[in-house]
Amino acid sequence: MIPLSIPKLNGNEWKYVQDCLNTGWISSAGSYVNQFEDMVAKYAGAKYGVACMNGTAGLHIAQILLGVTENDHVIAPNITFIATLNAIKYTGAQPILIDVDANNWQMDLDLLEQYLETQTETQTRDTETCRVDKSTNKRVRAIMPVHVLGNIGDMERMVQLAKTYHLDIIEDSTEALGSTFKNKHAGTFGSIGVFSFNGNKIISTGGGGVIVTDDEALANKARHLTTQAKVSAMDYIHDEIGFNYRLVNVLAAIGVAQMEQFPGILKDKRAMDVYYREHLQGVGDIAFQAIPEGAQPNGWLFTFSTSRMRELLAYLNENGVQSRPFWMPMNQLEMFKHDIYITKNDVSASVYETSISIPSSAGITQEQLETVVRTIKAFYEE
Ligand SMILES: Cc1ncc(COP(=O)(O)O)c(C=O)c1O
Repeated sequence: MIPLSIPKLNGNEWKYVQDCLNTGWISSAGSYVNQFEDMVAKYAGAKYGVACMNGTAGLHIAQILLGVTENDHVIAPNITFIATLNAIKYTGAQPILIDVDANNWQMDLDLLEQYLETQTETQTRDTETCRVDKSTNKRVRAIMPVHVLGNIGDMERMVQLAKTYHLDIIEDSTEALGSTFKNKHAGTFGSIGVFSFNGNKIISTGGGGVIVTDDEALANKARHLTTQAKVSAMDYIHDEIGFNYRLVNVLAAIGVAQMEQFPGILKDKRAMDVYYREHLQGVGDIAFQAIPEGAQPNGWLFTFSTSRMRELLAYLNENGVQSRPFWMPMNQLEMFKHDIYITKNDVSASVYETSISIPSSAGITQEQLETVVRTIKAFYEE
């Protein structure tokens, strides 16, 4: 079976992990953790990085840092992996779901603007000017754009909208290490960005995340909150409710080795994306995810749409090509059925019903790429 997305571990992973084991620095205090978070922040062009256990934990902390509470709304796209929404719910906040753009599958910015303009109003709360949803009387605190599949929408417009409507941006950049919009890296457009390094990401630590920000106070607070909010190095004195969210050294050691190889991996991923687009163009009724002008995606997980998605999915999995359907839209899940969903034509439903992800591992070989394409063509020719 050609796997959907597995890590490529060809560098110094063993050497650095052995170093952790040999020295006994296996927990959260080792030097690889600092090194890893610095490497990720530097790569993304952010001033600070804070490593945490996974991307979900990072998204949770990011919201706490910006003061999101149960009295707030956080805006998210209706198509994302469940973790985005779970992280919002951990804070007690209520999501506002925005339908996605039919071409690029990112949050539809026209719908976002329409919602903010017509369904929210400006108020002053706790001496701050903010936007409040007129139907719930809750403050709309932040937008959490998701760079779905490593693609990236018009972030300049998103930043402008956030400014106009007094909102923070927390970027769910978990899938977007390496992706840029007008040469600015994903995760650096808002107050905070979060990357994930779980098993299927472009590079992996097994499980892991890094929060990035340019704000020193936010970075310090993130470090504090992810390490049980302990005030003193010696005494067990804690000044607020903290979390045991810090990444451990053994996993960060893998991360350092992965970051060393990242430029090469990114190049290969983008070449894979070009290969699939060239060779699947015009096959059956396949349609590709559009890349917005100015965007340079990382090519994380190749996904296309076709009216015969379910048939193709079964065929590929039966013929040695591991493939997956897309995420069920959030508004269709039991937990979010009653949340506000802003849509005109429910694009999310059709994207979900037609989209399929195909093998996209960092180390996919030319032979495997050819096999994937041949198998897809054979399906449409049968
Ligand atoms: C869009 C999105 N958000 C959040 C996450 C959560 O990241 P993690 O698995 O590291 O918790 C992931 C990845 O799994 C993701 O794809």
